[in-house]
Amino acid sequence: PVLVVDFGAQYAQLIARRVREASVYSEVVPSTLSVAEMVAKSPAAIILSGGPASVYAQDAPRIDPALFEAGVPVFGICYGFQAMAQALGGEVAQTGRREYGATELAVTDPEAALLRDLPERLGVWMSHGDAVSVAPPGFRVTATTPETPIAAFEDPERKLAGVQYHPEVAHSEFGQEVLRRFLHDIAGIPADWTPAEILTEQVAAIRERIGDAKVICGLSGGVDSAVAAALVHRAVGDQLTCVFVDHGLLRAGEREQVERDYVAATGIRLVTVDASERFLSALAGVSDPETKRKTIGREFIRVFERAAAEIAEAEGGVKYLVQGTLYPDVVESGGGTGTATIKSHHNVGGLPEDMTFELVEPLRLLFKDEVRLLGAELGLPPAMVARHPFPGPGLGIRIIGEVTRDRLQILRAADAIVRAEMTAAGVDAQIWQCPVVLLADVRSVGVQGDGRTYGHPVVLRPVSSEDAMTADWSRLEYDLLARISSRITGEVTEVNRVVLDITSKPPGTIEWE
Ligand code: XMP
Repeated sequence: PVLVVDFGAQYAQLIARRVREASVYSEVVPSTLSVAEMVAKSPAAIILSGGPASVYAQDAPRIDPALFEAGVPVFGICYGFQAMAQALGGEVAQTGRREYGATELAVTDPEAALLRDLPERLGVWMSHGDAVSVAPPGFRVTATTPETPIAAFEDPERKLAGVQYHPEVAHSEFGQEVLRRFLHDIAGIPADWTPAEILTEQVAAIRERIGDAKVICGLSGGVDSAVAAALVHRAVGDQLTCVFVDHGLLRAGEREQVERDYVAATGIRLVTVDASERFLSALAGVSDPETKRKTIGREFIRVFERAAAEIAEAEGGVKYLVQGTLYPDVVESGGGTGTATIKSHHNVGGLPEDMTFELVEPLRLLFKDEVRLLGAELGLPPAMVARHPFPGPGLGIRIIGEVTRDRLQILRAADAIVRAEMTAAGVDAQIWQCPVVLLADVRSVGVQGDGRTYGHPVVLRPVSSEDAMTADWSRLEYDLLARISSRITGEVTEVNRVVLDITSKPPGTIEWE
């Protein structure tokens, strides 16, 4: 594999994913791993990630110079670039100036293996305080920025290179090309890995870990848990039982899709629990978003625990619980390195402390689009694999105000129209998801037929995103928006106004609660 050494940056997983996108297998390792331990993994190359530390900080993670003697190609990014410079005999200066955000990279060496034949000026994404002031002996300096005289260097003979900016983020022009050049041209690694190989490796790893123990998995109807369960089912067959909790906050047709299509495609054993009454009574009178999330999370766990206990009794014990946790969930719930909790996502934070299961999270290192590829490999129905993300708390967090049965009916009807029209227009693949939000406590005046109406607005929140960590509002065709608007106001009597959310994330989150 290509090892991405994590110096505590949010970017390490993103780098690993970009490497996989370049058809090279990659995984993240902690910076505490010794050079000998890294070399023992027979890495095809090592990438040193960015990190929040300054090389001058007391406890800054260091790089053992032995790394560069091991004959392994090394690419340094941001902090990794500076640490590399320092370890190889260059110098890093505390400039006192921070360069943060978009800046312009000037390519100064037209022969540079990493940067040749690219535009001479590239928009790139920077985030650093210190800067390399003297390149290590034997390295050519190949680019600069206004604040950073040494912004890229390389020694292709020794298969070493580095850049001060972040080529892995989408805002850096030709970033993926630069990574590819390091991997293929400098390190000489062939582009021959496919995501199908994750399948083979994971199935073997899961089989080994689980042995002949019994496993359960909660299905949500979404692609993550569906893929996680199908993967584990591929590994251990009917040792797995799936539980689908219908919390009454699902969209139209979702329960049927799981009970019928998914089971038909996978042959998985499925137990459905209809708990909608229970969730609705627990949600009565609740309109605060975090209270809603916690209430739904708590009830979900109770219902799930009861179902699990019944299965355990029937199966003679259950040891493992499968979860479809993805990398962005881990980061956003504060599980990443030093990142803040934004919302309590109930598939990560809400597990009971006295849980007696061991967790199996086969998707923990993957991003959504990688999970979709894996689902396709597993033969899941295309509609399920392409399905847009839908939050665990369901329509409960898309009704602004108290959640009631009537309001759920209204939102379900509007949502079904939006989904049908978007699919008919062929735009599903262009957008990440489109929450439809009911402003249940808001009313506005309208006119329909000859009469005055006093109805509720619904909000369309179509967003484009790569991984849900950031998002932009999608520029859907006006004609499509118009069709959606006139169908909703015509067919859903309680709604007399349709509005479009044009906020990016940040500052807005994707969901309204
Ligand atoms: P936000 O609203 O935080 O959403 O920008 C980011 C992505 O996560 C989904 N989401 C959730 N998924 N449980 C989930 O499984 C949750 O509690 C939850 N909250 C938000 C949201 O739909 C978007 O794709």
